[in-house]
Amino acid sequence: MQKFAVVEEVMISNENRTLIQEFGFFFYKVDSAILDDMFQRVRSYFAYEEKAYILSNTKQSQWETYRTGPKIGYSKQKHKESYSYSSGYGNLFYDSYCSYMSQVSHNLLKNLDSSLLFTEYLETLSLLHYFPNQESETALKEHKDWGLLTLLATDSVGLEAYYQGEWISIPPKKDHIIVNLGNAFAFLNPDFHSPLHRVRFQKEKFSIVFFLEPKPSQILKNNLSYYDFILQNT
Ligand SMILES: [Fe+2]
Repeated sequence: MQKFAVVEEVMISNENRTLIQEFGFFFYKVDSAILDDMFQRVRSYFAYEEKAYILSNTKQSQWETYRTGPKIGYSKQKHKESYSYSSGYGNLFYDSYCSYMSQVSHNLLKNLDSSLLFTEYLETLSLLHYFPNQESETALKEHKDWGLLTLLATDSVGLEAYYQGEWISIPPKKDHIIVNLGNAFAFLNPDFHSPLHRVRFQKEKFSIVFFLEPKPSQILKNNLSYYDFILQNT
């Protein structure tokens, strides 16, 4: 059974580094008051019935985000509803959560591999509400993340990672977020890998996901921009 790295401070021990390299996922201790407050906001946002009408006209796809800029908006699917927000777009509460997670992710990036620092980043927040009574459905099909780091706060089980031929559950850990590495990170430092993962339903749950990516125009290496990297690998 995979042992998860639990990182309690900014400096990453050699043992944890080895576990992170092998698995691509780890736990990181964060300020629990910030998490609790954000979960309260997210639950009340999704309880607000008018949300779709107010926000749906600003919805953009992931591809539009890379082409034209940040995506902001509400969307509803069969098994879940979500709201995407880009750091700096005027919601003071979401901006303050983004700036906290931005600081956490930059510190982690610096400590995992300081050569991976860029001058401009895309920082996106995704708020998710997985509906109840959907057991056995795959809520988010298997995929890898594109960027550098993904910082997930979630209040229930459901996340699974593919490791040595089987899907293993990554349950939430109190006062910790779950961090995973993305494709750009693994491309730039092949000692690490970007893990395949999915979300399966167990029961209703809320998740708050912060994505750290280079801005699409940033050069990864050899004149290859992040945008070109995604195009070439899709
Ligand atoms: Fe993901």
